[in-house]
Amino acid sequence: MDRMKYLEDLDAGDRRDGTPTSQRLRQIPAETGKFIALLAASAPKGTCLEIGTSAGYSTLWLALACKEVGRKITTFEVLKEKAKLAKETFELAGVEKVVELVIGDAREYLRNYKTVSFCFLDAEKEIYADCYEIIIPNMVSGGLLVADNAISHKEILEPMLNRALNDKRVDALIVPIERGELVCRKL
Ligand SMILES: C[S@@+](CC[C@H](N)C(=O)[O-])C[C@H]1O[C@@H](n2cnc3c(N)ncnc32)[C@H](O)[C@@H]1O
Repeated sequence: MDRMKYLEDLDAGDRRDGTPTSQRLRQIPAETGKFIALLAASAPKGTCLEIGTSAGYSTLWLALACKEVGRKITTFEVLKEKAKLAKETFELAGVEKVVELVIGDAREYLRNYKTVSFCFLDAEKEIYADCYEIIIPNMVSGGLLVADNAISHKEILEPMLNRALNDKRVDALIVPIERGELVCRKL
């Protein structure tokens, strides 16, 4: 898909050039995209969410998986300029009917979703714990929460990772794909 390749090249170029993190798209690698798409397509019936859209690269992987199984995805992005790029991505890729883009701090909206079946968490690490505590009680049995950077940002995420790995409400493990994915399945 053209837009996917365009975003991959843009992100890779920015990383090579040393563009400051705040200006980069900070996308997941393609391998992680395949992994989350596979999990989203296998999730039980319910609402699919993503926290941290950026220009919509990971959302595209999830949207294609959701489309295949007749579902939609809601994605949250706090920065207006990133949301603008994401809107462009969804239109160019023809998935705008599958994706609902919410512009704002995800934490202000998450409590409205009571039957979450899949959530991909890829935002600032400081909000992971808050998002986890809001989502897990509202997740359907068999629902999946996947959090990126569980290995690359192990130290800063340690309290949240330990909470999930010892949480009796879920089965959880860290999968060593690319930057490391925490996968939690609600019991
Ligand atoms: C690592 S990037 C996401 C990359 C994207 N998942 C991808 O792979 O294409 C993190 C994004 O989360 C957004 N973000 C940070 N805090 C947020 C919040 N509280 N609510 C919604 N979005 C947030 C940032 O603006 C940034 O665009």
